[in-house]
Amino acid sequence: MQFIDLKAQYKALKPEIDANIQAVLDSAQFIGGPQVKELEQKLADATGRKHCISCANGTDALQLAYMVLGVGSGDAVFCSDITFISSTEPAKMFGATPVFCDIDPKTYDLCPESLERQIKAVLAEGKLTPRAVVAVDILGNPCDFDAIVPICEKYGLPLIEDAAQSFGASYHGRPCGSFGALAITSFFPAKPLGCYGDGGAIFTDDDEMDKLCRSICVHGKGPGGKYDNVRVGMNSRLDTIQAAVLLPKLKALQEYEVDRRQEVAARYNAAFAGRFVTPYVAENCVCVYAQYALLAADQDQRDRIVAHLKDAGIPNMIYYPTPQHALPVFRHEPVYGETFRHANDYCARTFSLPMHPYLDPADQQKVIDAVLEAI
Ligand SMILES: Cc1ncc(COP(=O)(O)O)c(C=O)c1O
Repeated sequence: MQFIDLKAQYKALKPEIDANIQAVLDSAQFIGGPQVKELEQKLADATGRKHCISCANGTDALQLAYMVLGVGSGDAVFCSDITFISSTEPAKMFGATPVFCDIDPKTYDLCPESLERQIKAVLAEGKLTPRAVVAVDILGNPCDFDAIVPICEKYGLPLIEDAAQSFGASYHGRPCGSFGALAITSFFPAKPLGCYGDGGAIFTDDDEMDKLCRSICVHGKGPGGKYDNVRVGMNSRLDTIQAAVLLPKLKALQEYEVDRRQEVAARYNAAFAGRFVTPYVAENCVCVYAQYALLAADQDQRDRIVAHLKDAGIPNMIYYPTPQHALPVFRHEPVYGETFRHANDYCARTFSLPMHPYLDPADQQKVIDAVLEAI
């Protein structure tokens, strides 16, 4: 059994994926082929955004977003304590300070109250300039944008939506990737929309930001093209082959994969209700369960379950074992009195089970039985 079964997905989509890859091989347009533009248009349509700029990976997409906003020395960037380091790594890279916020104990996303407390604390101290907010739809579950967006507006802070884990999810009918001045996603193979290598994308409605992204992606190219470098940039582009792989995968995600993820999650929820804390999805929201995470009673129980699953040959993971504020690289960042009570509790108790749209109910039952045996 696989934690995320990419082979099963390939088997289902093989004719289209193979034909698309072959078309790229035949055309030899490995960089900037027509599939890249076609994909960008389809991704923009899927998120309801004016612009989609594809790039080399989700980490680059975040760096690009930070660069577009001009994050630099003396700036504070606010982000949830539970995420992958890519969300906040660019802050350190550009000489800014990541300011972590606690999580909402139900969704595990950025807690709006903690966000506002941290912004106020930074302003009161007067050393750093609040610069941006990064809201991560963790595990594929959309953030509480109705609460977060007004806080960003109140303090004049641009929002970056990190939708690396939430492509295909939605909040009150609005697709993830549609929030913030800029949003990003990742096409890392295990993501809800993954390619066969690395890939990523940025979304914006702003024409100037679109232009800036496209310039930074190509070494800061100017109106005169690739050799008319007007700013410092990077080399970040989505290969044509990856775009060709993503086109049928996007179609499958939209046509049935998101629904199937709901079915898998519903079966887990039914089996584990009352025994563990099962995922909470707010009303009128769709989660894509990039991971299906349960909370055990405490760390001891979690560790016992994980050990039992390992013995039983059931794949499992912990997303994430360490909150950002406690990572060695960030341990000395200012925390402004935040205790990260909910983030610490989450990391001690969380464990994730196999979750993908091709999970066979019989295999899923084996996972459920092994977890129940462990308790
Ligand atoms: C929340 C989040 N942001 C950003 C990234 C970075 O994406 P990539 O691996 O494509 O660089 C990831 C990938 O794991 C992620 O989970």
